[in-house]
Amino acid sequence: MLIDVDHLLATLTLEEKASLLSGQDFWDTQEVARDGEVLVPSVMVTDGPHGLRKQAAATDHLGLGKSVPATCFPTAAALSSTWDPALLRRVGEALGVETRVNDVAVLLGPGVNIKRSPLCGRNFEYFSEDPFLTGRLAAPLVDGIQSQGVGTSLKHYAANNQEADRMRVSAEVDERTLREIYFPGFEHVVKEAQPWTVMCAYNKVNGTYASEHPWLLTKVLRDEWGYAGLVVSDWGAVRDRVAGVAAGMDLQMPPDGGRGDARVIEAVKRGDLSMAELDLAVRRVLELVARSPQKTGVQPYDVAGHHALAREAAAAGTVLLANDPVDGAPLLPLSGGARVAVIGELARTPRYQGAGSSQVIPTRLDDALTALRAATGVNVPFAAGYTLDGEDNGSGADAAALLAEATSVAKAAETVLVFLGLPKSYESEGFDRSHIDLPAEQVAVLQAVAAVNPRVIVVLANGSVVATAPWREYAPAIVEGWLGGQAGGSGVVDVLLGKVNPSGRLAETIPLRLEDNPSFGNFPGEYGAVRYGEGVLVGYRWYDYRELDVAFPFGHGLSYTTFGYGPVTATVTGEGAEVRVTVKVTVANTGDRAGAEVVQVYVGDQSASVLRPKRELKAFEKVMLEPGESREITFDLDSRALAFWHPLLKRWTVEGGAFEIAVGASSRDLRGTVTIDVIGEDISLPITSLSSVAETLAHPVVGPKLSALIKGRVSKSLAVMLGDMPLESVADFGIMGIDRVGLETFLTS
Ligand code: BGC
Repeated sequence: MLIDVDHLLATLTLEEKASLLSGQDFWDTQEVARDGEVLVPSVMVTDGPHGLRKQAAATDHLGLGKSVPATCFPTAAALSSTWDPALLRRVGEALGVETRVNDVAVLLGPGVNIKRSPLCGRNFEYFSEDPFLTGRLAAPLVDGIQSQGVGTSLKHYAANNQEADRMRVSAEVDERTLREIYFPGFEHVVKEAQPWTVMCAYNKVNGTYASEHPWLLTKVLRDEWGYAGLVVSDWGAVRDRVAGVAAGMDLQMPPDGGRGDARVIEAVKRGDLSMAELDLAVRRVLELVARSPQKTGVQPYDVAGHHALAREAAAAGTVLLANDPVDGAPLLPLSGGARVAVIGELARTPRYQGAGSSQVIPTRLDDALTALRAATGVNVPFAAGYTLDGEDNGSGADAAALLAEATSVAKAAETVLVFLGLPKSYESEGFDRSHIDLPAEQVAVLQAVAAVNPRVIVVLANGSVVATAPWREYAPAIVEGWLGGQAGGSGVVDVLLGKVNPSGRLAETIPLRLEDNPSFGNFPGEYGAVRYGEGVLVGYRWYDYRELDVAFPFGHGLSYTTFGYGPVTATVTGEGAEVRVTVKVTVANTGDRAGAEVVQVYVGDQSASVLRPKRELKAFEKVMLEPGESREITFDLDSRALAFWHPLLKRWTVEGGAFEIAVGASSRDLRGTVTIDVIGEDISLPITSLSSVAETLAHPVVGPKLSALIKGRVSKSLAVMLGDMPLESVADFGIMGIDRVGLETFLTS
């Protein structure tokens, strides 16, 4: 059906227009009909992000009701660990196909909030602690989905980094931190992929609800980043509907029984909201409907092909954290004839997605135990070891029996695969975790198994990091499988058997202790406010700045082959806002298997007028290399890779000086470093009577004048003491030899 947006805007009544600004039901936009003729059809939007949750009957936003079967792809925690934009594009295409064939117009995702704390209950749905990686992976996912003629919803904008009090809490974040850490994921996806919709967060940002925040929704999102699509509320995020429309929040979901629409109508009649403001929001809803595909009735798609892609992605997102030699050789990959045993309920009953609105009904479900038996043709011995239905194994007697069975199975095997992870009750949308430990009874099983057989490989299933330090000594090999989607079981087995050479890398640091995390003490806040006191030092930026040891660093992940790095070179062209840096390095596969290396480029400003992280990820590339093969890789960095958000000038700024360019296999495994000199922008601030003596002396024009003025009057040591004093105070004290009037003349001449 052809939608003539301009004609509709000119002819719809005020009431009809207002009705379009909220849904018709939980998942559909409002239809407008006159005398039985549909003027504006409704379109369906539905979760997201890693699979389609199309509810045919009862509706909810907590993952309670049933939905149609759909491929459950790996969660963002696993997808981000692939560091593979091309793979995310392909996953996106498949998600787009399933969205389209189910007559859904918009898939509600991806979620690009930063993993500020490992405690956030929804970290499984988010990509990384790093904004650059987040944006570079989410953009191709959005592109892939939208390539199928359906839309996405980039969520939750902005600063929704916890579940605790998420519908009310005010994230108290300084602008520089927003611009450098919490925005760039959104900014990059908006600029590169233009998601059809952006979903505003529930929470407040610096005291104002995101759903009624003009600076967030209009100034930054639209005026600065050029966003042309629609803003939809998170489900139930609207407080003041009229303020929302004025701020740029177009579509309220789900509907509120007409309350919001009535307020909008009243406000327009009273003149509190202009018709132009209303029309802008209505236009965006109409444009969304106009670009949405016509409903064709549910169509088939390649279910088996999508399952295979989910398996490929799960294997690619699996991170080999450790593979220490035991008896002179690493335990992984498992050799063909290895007599292995499997311990752990999670091998049989996989945990493969998180709980809440993202929960989909999978088309198939692979568990690792069945996959391992099928792949090896051996009835691999198994013991559950623990249960998943509660905090502990039930009665002491049951626990003892499970433990005894596990140790006897482990003892008889050559090598033991111990599957551990977080039960469903540990992490979910809606609440945060209170610690990052595995269940104690699982650790007890691991300990008991290791005591009878030290050849232990731990395979983890969790949506956000778990502390490995408490049990690291019992596990020479550790494989992080995350919540790997419906083919997570077979995907991880592909890695264990070496059918897939692991190439996953950590998108978040695994700290030694929760207490080391930068947000510790400030998370999740109290009395309705959460202070982002760590500022830009989020994730590895903090651990590096504080020189803290970590369990496994950001960017880390092992392979079954080895890679060598040649010398790093960096060439600077241009200066200031036009500066570009070309970084080159040759990487070689020095082992005997084909494998992929993720080459990471980190930039550090050696001396800056603001606190800057020691190093920040600014480029990466995943390179597949045959044994003995080497390749030169070139990275082009633009000025943004060097810039910081100047808190006073309120713009991206390249400050001149030395920058360190480090290339490596993780944030802590830097294989080559070069220092470049960059000519910066003029960032001298205007000098006023309230400028300090030090600021004035540093100014290229006024500085020499002041030096000349105070020469002979102010000794060097006195100048240091006066450094932080405003000029007018120094004038008042008579130290400069001029009074305020003289100062005024001095500053204006
Ligand atoms: C979640 C969103 C989700 C929406 C609809 C909300 O509770 O925060 O991510 O898309 O529900 O289910």
